[in-house]
Amino acid sequence: MSQTIAVLKGDGIGPEIMEATLRVLDALDCDLTYEFHDAGLAALDKHGTLVPPETLAAIETHRVALKGPLTTPIGKGFSSINVQLRRHFDLYANVRPAISFPGTRSRYDNIDLITVRENTEGAYLAEGQSLSEDGETALSSIRVTRSGSGRIVRYAFELARQKGRQKVTAVHKANIIKTSSGLFLEVAREVARDYPEIELEEMIVDNACMQLVMNPNQFDVIVTTNLFGDILSDLCAGLVGGLGLAPGSNIGSEVAIFEAVHGSAPDIAGKKIANPCALLLAAADMLDHLGMVEKGAKIRGSIREVLENDREQVTPDMGGSGNTDTFADALVKVVRR
Ligand code: NAI
Ligand code: MG
Repeated sequence: MSQTIAVLKGDGIGPEIMEATLRVLDALDCDLTYEFHDAGLAALDKHGTLVPPETLAAIETHRVALKGPLTTPIGKGFSSINVQLRRHFDLYANVRPAISFPGTRSRYDNIDLITVRENTEGAYLAEGQSLSEDGETALSSIRVTRSGSGRIVRYAFELARQKGRQKVTAVHKANIIKTSSGLFLEVAREVARDYPEIELEEMIVDNACMQLVMNPNQFDVIVTTNLFGDILSDLCAGLVGGLGLAPGSNIGSEVAIFEAVHGSAPDIAGKKIANPCALLLAAADMLDHLGMVEKGAKIRGSIREVLENDREQVTPDMGGSGNTDTFADALVKVVRR
């Protein structure tokens, strides 16, 4: 039976990279039905809100969404759309694979690691922030819960098991932030006992930064709290050559939203030179999530092949002289073969 997914084309380059992505998905015969819904600036014009209720309802019904980058207007009192979606669906796991591809500006080959970031608690709380009356002292709190830590660590281990990974590295600062980071680490040790075939490695966050830069190949799956995960996942994107190839998924117990990590790139919107790969890799992760693991692998393989053998067709950010359409044409050709 065909699986229906909610598709949010997004703003700026969103519609261009979504078109390229859906062309590749169609060439793979994934038997997906796309239901298009508005969000972002397009929704604001039509519905007067950035995230219309019918879009939320569709995501809830279909449980899986592929989403282009959305522009949140600045200084007009709108709160970030991504934060709204994360809160609404309790998308507690932010999953960011970092994979080496040929022809990028990376100094490394063979990086294949996944950062699993806790997405709902930690240091990123709206509440618990205060400034003293004299403006002298600011206080921010960190909230870590046993249940919140448990579900993110379990997610990381389940992912490791499903993908045949050997090791999960829990990144923390429990030596200094003894209560919150300590609780996270304690829960990580408890959960790890349920996965005897997978090694739990513990690493303090500052050391993890150095180790990632010196020897990223030693990592497999990293699990960590919100703030550390935010920073480390961007570091990992940098290790494999930047945002052009960085997908991200936001996973909850009911709903999963797959997207590119980059934004709507208004500076190049409409020029048809946007690189579709990050959204395509997000689509590959979506296929994995839907159980179509071979098709997901086929997307990654086709990107690898085109970057290796058909460089004139790729977009300028990857050093090519092509555009979004020629890149998609080349990918479709490889996938169809
Ligand atoms: P950005 O990621 O849109 O752009 C940064 C730079 O990278 C620009 O020079 C852009 O041209 C380039 N770039 C980004 N994606 C590219 C691609 N696929 N191919 C080629 N070049 C690409 O970040 P920026 O400028 O900070 O944000 C622009 C808008 O995007 C803002 O409104 C922001 O709120 C939104 N945004 C949305 C996100 C989402 O929906 N997940 C994430 C980040 C930003
Ligand atoms: Mg970030």
